Amino acid sequence: MSESRPAAVLVLAAGEGRRMKSRLPKVLHSLCGRSMVGHALAVAGELDPERLVVVVGHGRDQVSAEVTGQSPGALVVVQDQQLGTGHAVRMVTETLGDFRGTVVVTYGDMPLLRGQTLRELVDVHHAGGNAVTVLTATGDPAGYGRIVRDADGAFLRIVEQRDATPAELAIDEYNSGCYAFDGALLADAIKRVTTDNTQQQEYLTDVVGILRGDGHPIGTVLAADVAEIHGVNDRVQLAAARRALNDRILEHWMRAGVTIVDPATTWVDVTVTIGQDAEIGPQVQLTGATAIADGARIGPGCLLEDAVVGKDAVLLYAVCRQAEVGPGVTVGPYAFLRPGTRISENAHIGCHVELKNAEVGPGAKVPHLTYVGDAHIGADANIGAGTIFANYDGVGKHHTDVGEHAFVGSNSVLVAPVAIGDGAYTAAGSVITGDVASGELGVARGRQHNSHGWVERKRQGTRSADAAKRARSE
Ligand code: UD1
Ligand code: CA
Repeated sequence: MSESRPAAVLVLAAGEGRRMKSRLPKVLHSLCGRSMVGHALAVAGELDPERLVVVVGHGRDQVSAEVTGQSPGALVVVQDQQLGTGHAVRMVTETLGDFRGTVVVTYGDMPLLRGQTLRELVDVHHAGGNAVTVLTATGDPAGYGRIVRDADGAFLRIVEQRDATPAELAIDEYNSGCYAFDGALLADAIKRVTTDNTQQQEYLTDVVGILRGDGHPIGTVLAADVAEIHGVNDRVQLAAARRALNDRILEHWMRAGVTIVDPATTWVDVTVTIGQDAEIGPQVQLTGATAIADGARIGPGCLLEDAVVGKDAVLLYAVCRQAEVGPGVTVGPYAFLRPGTRISENAHIGCHVELKNAEVGPGAKVPHLTYVGDAHIGADANIGAGTIFANYDGVGKHHTDVGEHAFVGSNSVLVAPVAIGDGAYTAAGSVITGDVASGELGVARGRQHNSHGWVERKRQGTRSADAAKRARSE
C-alpha cells in the first residue's frame, strides 16, 4: 500500500472557464453537493497522497478558500498567469521543490473522474516502471490532444488539436489530461518545455514527448468509461455531468437496497446516506448531510437539506432544513421544517404546518395549519388547527412551552414567552398571553352574546330578514 502511495496529486484549477459566463470561478460551480474542485479533491484524496496540491489562478481567493475548507491539508500554489498546463506544473515544482515518487496530475473541472480510475493508472504506472503513464480514451476526439503512435503502436507523443496535421486529427485516441509521472523525471523535463506551438503556451503534454525522447518507458491506460474524463466547460456540460453523477449515486443506493421510484426526478448529493428499504418517491431532492434511516418513505415532492430522518418515518411534500425527524414520525403533506426543529418518535406534523427551532415530543400532534416557532411541545400534546405560536414581538424572539398531554384549542394564539402546563387546555380561539397551569383551562376570548330579533329590526327587507321571519313563524 505505502509503495503505491503517490508523493503528490496535483489538481490544475487555475483556468478561468470563460464559457461558463459566470462571476463564479468555473471550478466552484457545483453538482451533487460539491464544487467541481471539491470532487477533484475527494478523488485525489482516495489515493492518499503525501501531498495534495491545487494550482489556482482565476478567482484564487475564492478557490483557495474552497480548497482549504474541504481539504485543510491541501497546498495551494498560485499561477498568476495561465501560460499553459506545463507552466502550471512548473509553478508547483518551483514552489515545492522536486518530488521523489509518483506525481499524479488531474484537473479541477473533471467531476466524473473516479478514484478507482486514478488508482488503476498509478498501478499500471508502477507495474510498468514508467516515466509517465497517460490516461487516454477513444471515441470522438474533438478538442482533445491526440495520442500519436508509431507503426508498431508504440507511444510517440501527444499533439494538440490546433497543432495537429490532418493525419493526426484523424486519430481517435485522445489525451484525458490525467497522468502519473515519475516525480524526479517530471521536475527535470518540465524545465525543458518550450512555447513552440500555436498558443505559445507551455504544454504539459510536451513532457511526455520529452521523456520518450530521453528513452524512458511511457505507458497508457485506456479509460473504461469515457464519460469520466470529460471536462466541464459550460453550463450545458455541467448539467450533463450532474445528471450522470446523480445517476451513479442513485444506482449506488438502489444496489444498497433503497427503492427509488423515479430516478429521473430524484436528486441525491454525494454526501447523503440512505438506509435499507427506504423508499424515495418522485420529485425528491436530498442534499448536504441528510441521513435517511431504514424503511423511511420520502416523497413525492420533498426537499431535505442536512436533515436527519428516523426509521420508518414518512414525509410527504415536505421541506426540511437542518431538522431532525424521529422514527415513525409522519410529516406533511405541505410541511416546512426549519433549522433547529426536532420531532420525536411517532409524532405527527400535518398539512400546512411550519416549525422553526421547535422540539415536538413523542406522539404529539400538530396536524393542521399551524406555525410553531421557538417552542417545546411535550409528549402526546395536541395542537389544534390554526394555532399560532407568536414568538416574535417585533424586537426579540421568545420561547413557548407546552406540557405533555396538553390540548391547545383550534385557532389559539400562544403569545411568547408563555407556558401551558402538563394536561392543561386552552379554549379554541384564545389569545393566550399568560401561563396556564397544569390541569387548568385557559380561556381568553370574548364571551358570546346573541341579540334577539336583531336581523328583523336592523336588516328589514333583506332575504336574511325574510328567512328569519319564516323560521320564527314555522
Ligand atoms: C488539455 C491537454 C489536452 C487534453 C485536454 C483534456 C495540454 C497542453 N493539453 O487541453 O491534450 O486532451 O487537456 O481535457 O495540456 N490550467 C491551469 N493553468 C494553465 C492552463 C490550464 O491550471 O495555465 C488548468 C485548467 O484550469 C484546466 C486544465 O488545466 O483545469 C486543462 O486546461 P485546458 O486549457 O482546458 O486544456 P486543454 O486545452 O483542454
Ligand atoms: Ca479543457
